[in-house]
Amino acid sequence: MFIKNCWYVAAWDIEVPQDAMLARTLLGEPVLMYRTGAGRVVALENRCCHRAAPLHLGRKEGDCVRCMYHGLKFDPTGACVEIPGQETIPAKTCVRSYPVVERHRLVWIWMGDPALANPDDIVGYPWHDSPEWRMKPGYIHYQAHYQLIVDNLLDFTHLAWVHPTTLGTDSAAAIKPVIERDTKGLGTLTISRWYHNDDMPNLHKRVASFEGKVDRWQTYQWSPPALLRMDAGSAPVGTGAPEGQRVPEAVQFRHTSIQTPETETTSHYWFCQARNFALDDAQMTEQIYQGVVEAFEEDRTMIEAQQKIMSQVPNRPMIPIGSDSGMNQARWLIDRQLKAEQAQASAAAGAHPVIPVFPVTPVGAV
Ligand code: FES
Ligand SMILES: [Fe+2]
Repeated sequence: MFIKNCWYVAAWDIEVPQDAMLARTLLGEPVLMYRTGAGRVVALENRCCHRAAPLHLGRKEGDCVRCMYHGLKFDPTGACVEIPGQETIPAKTCVRSYPVVERHRLVWIWMGDPALANPDDIVGYPWHDSPEWRMKPGYIHYQAHYQLIVDNLLDFTHLAWVHPTTLGTDSAAAIKPVIERDTKGLGTLTISRWYHNDDMPNLHKRVASFEGKVDRWQTYQWSPPALLRMDAGSAPVGTGAPEGQRVPEAVQFRHTSIQTPETETTSHYWFCQARNFALDDAQMTEQIYQGVVEAFEEDRTMIEAQQKIMSQVPNRPMIPIGSDSGMNQARWLIDRQLKAEQAQASAAAGAHPVIPVFPVTPVGAV
């Protein structure tokens, strides 16, 4: 079961090219994405309402898509505009159309009640398209429930064990994060981790213009369903980073990690690591990207193996430890929203009792 009334990421902008269609399962629903002639992204249910053929096996015709089984044609609102060989088109001949917003190089989709979709609620990732930052967009497909990935991102003690040669240093397991929770709306967690007079992780060493001990930080915001925005970096020790000073040689990154459930046991994961130095160095862009891919493969190995065990031996309790605090608070926020949506659905069902599809004529009535 997934939260429905929130914005999810469906794709990077480049995954939906002008002249092709992208089929993707999101929250267990088959979705088709394509662009209109004006470049606007359309998201339709990827299931023809006639006989359930997937529309991605069809073809784009202008701003419409035609199912290539029996030829029904649908416009960007999902309405059927042509049934070959038939004059009238019943109103219910349509597929679902999802609200979509393209912002900061991401395609955002609303899978819940369209009346509640407010683009102002979309979380900002300005470093994706700011001229002051440079990044290469990344995507990973995961054989695991998305909340296992969220758990991982909200407990950086694993850096010491899963990423000893990439992201981690020995100190990662000992640092106590400061966690602040804001319960407004869907809620937000702000997590800060400071490493004073510490070693640089290898990924920073590879691009830093200085050597030696550093003060470094990982400050990130997380909000449901699975949106993480991080400010991370290393500055030469004693140059005032903890007090808010960022000297020019400090290595600074903005990191994006976003998950969208595909099914109960698989997930989509979009990420990038933006930097504000050496902007024109394409080789460095690739090097940083590959470094993150390498580290994320380390996570994936562990998390997919964890999912396998959980599927094999389900419903066993987990024993909490102190460093679970961030992930537990995230799970609390997700559960809170799930319960709220369930309560809304029950209330709506109660307020509108189910009416029989065919009116029943009372016995004896004329
Ligand atoms: S299944 Fe699509 S037109 Fe028949
Ligand atoms: Fe990790």
